[in-house]
Amino acid sequence: MHKIPFIIGNFIACLIPWTKPRRNCRGYVNRILFYPWIARFVRRAYGERMKTLRFVRQRTLHRVVFIANDKYYVKVFRNVTHERICDFVELMGMVERVISVEVPHFIADKSLPIIGCAKNPGTDVHAIDKKLIIKNQDKIKKQVQKIIAELQSIDVEGIPNNDRFINNIQGRHKPEIECVGCRRVLGHFDMNPSNFLFDENLNIVSLVDWDSMQIANNPDTDWTYFVKRLEIFLSR
Ligand SMILES: Nc1ncnc2c1ncn2[C@@H]1O[C@H](COP(=O)(O)OP(=O)(O)O)[C@@H](O)[C@H]1O
Ligand SMILES: [Mg+2]
Repeated sequence: MHKIPFIIGNFIACLIPWTKPRRNCRGYVNRILFYPWIARFVRRAYGERMKTLRFVRQRTLHRVVFIANDKYYVKVFRNVTHERICDFVELMGMVERVISVEVPHFIADKSLPIIGCAKNPGTDVHAIDKKLIIKNQDKIKKQVQKIIAELQSIDVEGIPNNDRFINNIQGRHKPEIECVGCRRVLGHFDMNPSNFLFDENLNIVSLVDWDSMQIANNPDTDWTYFVKRLEIFLSR
């Protein structure tokens, strides 16, 4: 049932020739069609009547991000079961316990593949002067290394029924570097600079966008990906 808005949105978007309006069209159609479900979710999860619902982003065909009442990020997934969403929320609980920066505290909907979290503190990297980021590169890198080490302190073999967590909830598998006999660890798998939120001294205060999280066969995966994405971000 929840796939219908995605199908309608994707179909209408096919008729639109330009990439950006096409991309946003899916999101706006989903915003209209999912409105009642999201309103119900916000009421149940946060005890609030929904006053505003803004479309934030729909990058892939499979997931759409909204912000409700200007403070709750709500994500709706297409090809994910409700059970899988609950597993993801449980895993995020483990992450929350070991990591020293803020991470989203997700709540799952009762039946649909919808998750919500309150806005985390910090400023988006796009709102910060790039020169300042270049100057503080080493400081940022050190903090990212610390976060990765904290994440990797979770014993993945101890995660119950860990087969469920081998693939991320978006069903996308990001390529990993081959590593025979390496220690398996939990990886964020989307450590690009835009998923870190900073304070004015370039300290990382939050790490968001955990939907790509999965068990990595190579402990270097997150670090290699971060360095590559930071380079791309700085060269733009
Ligand atoms: N919990 C959150 N707190 C603050 N900002 C957030 C939060 N979740 C998402 N955002 C903002 O919304 C943007 C898009 O959300 P994100 O989950 O990263 O989706 P995408 O996969 O499309 O990048 C992020 O880059 C961040 O600026
Ligand atoms: Mg992101």
